Amino acid sequence: NIMKYRVTLLLMFMNIGICLAQHAGLKVHHLGANHTLIQVLEPQKYLLLPIEEAAPEATVNVLVNNQCDQTLNVRLAMNRVDYLVPFNLEEYKGKCVSFNIHTGNSRANVRDAMEDACWGEIVLSNTYHAENTEKFRPLYHHTPLWGWMNDPNGMFYKDGLYHLCYQYNPYGSMWGNLSWGHSTSKDLVNWKHEPVALVPDGLGLVFSGSCVVDKNNTAGFGKDAVVAIYTSAGASQIQSLAYSLDNGITFQTYEGNPIITSDKECRDPNMFWHEKSGKWILILAAALEKEMWIYSSPDLKNWTKESSFGKGYGAQEGVWECPDLMELPVRGTDKTKWVLICNINPGGPFGGSAAQYFVGDFDGKTFTCNSNPEVTKWMDYGKDHYATVSWSNAPKNRHTVIAWMSNWQYANNVPTQQYRSANSLPRDLELFQGEDGECYLATTPASEIESLRAGAAMKYGSFSAGTRKVSKKLPIVNSGVCEIALELNARSAEMVYITLANAKGEETVMSYDLGKQVFSMDRTKSGLTEFSKDFPAVTVAPCPKGNKQALRLFIDRCSIEAFEGEGRFAMTNLVFPDEPYTTIAISTAKGTCKVNNLIVYPLNVNK
Ligand code: FRU
Repeated sequence: NIMKYRVTLLLMFMNIGICLAQHAGLKVHHLGANHTLIQVLEPQKYLLLPIEEAAPEATVNVLVNNQCDQTLNVRLAMNRVDYLVPFNLEEYKGKCVSFNIHTGNSRANVRDAMEDACWGEIVLSNTYHAENTEKFRPLYHHTPLWGWMNDPNGMFYKDGLYHLCYQYNPYGSMWGNLSWGHSTSKDLVNWKHEPVALVPDGLGLVFSGSCVVDKNNTAGFGKDAVVAIYTSAGASQIQSLAYSLDNGITFQTYEGNPIITSDKECRDPNMFWHEKSGKWILILAAALEKEMWIYSSPDLKNWTKESSFGKGYGAQEGVWECPDLMELPVRGTDKTKWVLICNINPGGPFGGSAAQYFVGDFDGKTFTCNSNPEVTKWMDYGKDHYATVSWSNAPKNRHTVIAWMSNWQYANNVPTQQYRSANSLPRDLELFQGEDGECYLATTPASEIESLRAGAAMKYGSFSAGTRKVSKKLPIVNSGVCEIALELNARSAEMVYITLANAKGEETVMSYDLGKQVFSMDRTKSGLTEFSKDFPAVTVAPCPKGNKQALRLFIDRCSIEAFEGEGRFAMTNLVFPDEPYTTIAISTAKGTCKVNNLIVYPLNVNK
């Protein structure tokens, strides 16, 4: 008996030993084939959750004194751990926290379930390494430190800071757990990561929306309160309000939520102050109706539907999402026109998601489009420019937009891990009169981007190029991130090629077909393309008439943004070259062309 007692003691001791080694500070109870309870006994800053992207989502209920405080969906690793994400325990300091986990793995019994890879690596830790470790992570485009990002949200300017919130999953690099991540910047190019601004509540996930600065305290939350209106996405999509009295760092949800409801799928409210009618205007996407609904309000809380726009207008294939409405000057005139931005998915010009816009008039109640319904205008002619909206309250009546630099066709599968997706460069908008008499958007990279130019510019001057490529070097530092500016005089050449390439033979080929008046970008051989059948593509933009063309290119590890010299087209495409591109080469199909003022600016951020 004594022997049995000793063996039992020894076994108990070993068990405790294993428990301590694997799960210091935690008590893990495997309760069933799909059920595990983890008690946090000695908390540290984070509980690190092991993720496997191919695993099904587990439902993780965070309990505080055994009451459910929040529910997360987490792809807890079954077969292998792809990466870890931190769950922040600091906000629960002094409280008794446990995680009640229902895995989605359909294991047959508890013994098999215990083998799941996550249980070996789930740990408490005081640190989480979020350094910029991935080779495709952009240097000067905004990305979350870890986790998934889609649409830009709630952008406003106040007291010298640009605020950028975004659709964020802190618990994995795929879409889910939608919250508003938050970053701030003095100059739109150097970003500081702030605490998450809004998290899901009983009304649903926090989908896209906008923020305004309530200068006259119309809502009664206080002068200069920052007011956010966003979509609460639960069983239905309804619109909710939250406000911040500390410049947008923390938000309080409004007790009267929701503030707008509908029996139709409606989302992504975007608001602004309309001076002429002395009212707030909100534009809401009736996604499946393919309409934008326009509301007005005196106080941001009570909204009246004024009108709708869209039936039969523009691209109609996909759902309508993420609207914006703004008044812009028409270049070279003293006129202004109103622009209604309408992001659609799918139905973009090269498949998947894209941003279209309409130009017209707005009288405080109704938007009237100046073009025929069949006219479709695109903000950007690449594949990776979506959910584009503008900053509210920007200085000098500036209208600056930013996009999510991805496409719903493959956003969840691009070859990054610790984070997924970046924003485009911030861009300033104006209108210009096109050769066909229509008004179009001119999109210019925000001038602040020039402050990224670092080190000696590589000035290649002017030279001729024919059918043989004339090749120039790109910078080596920072994996070659750079801005390239050039002017082209095509002379006798109708087709001019601009090729970015590396020693592995990977290349992105841009071309001007001046006969057809188009600029294109071919990324079919750009590097890694096989993660999605929809990724390899040639995108095409109309370019201005004539032999003389000016171009600006921005390269940042996994993206190329091309802008016509005066912003008359923009084209944004992701590329994943295995090694950075090291050369830019110019050639023609026939005849010679002249390249003028080719300058390559190495870029860097202020670290
Ligand atoms: C657009 C969108 C929005 C929605 C959000 C959800 O990309 O579908 O309509 O609010 O993403 O993440």
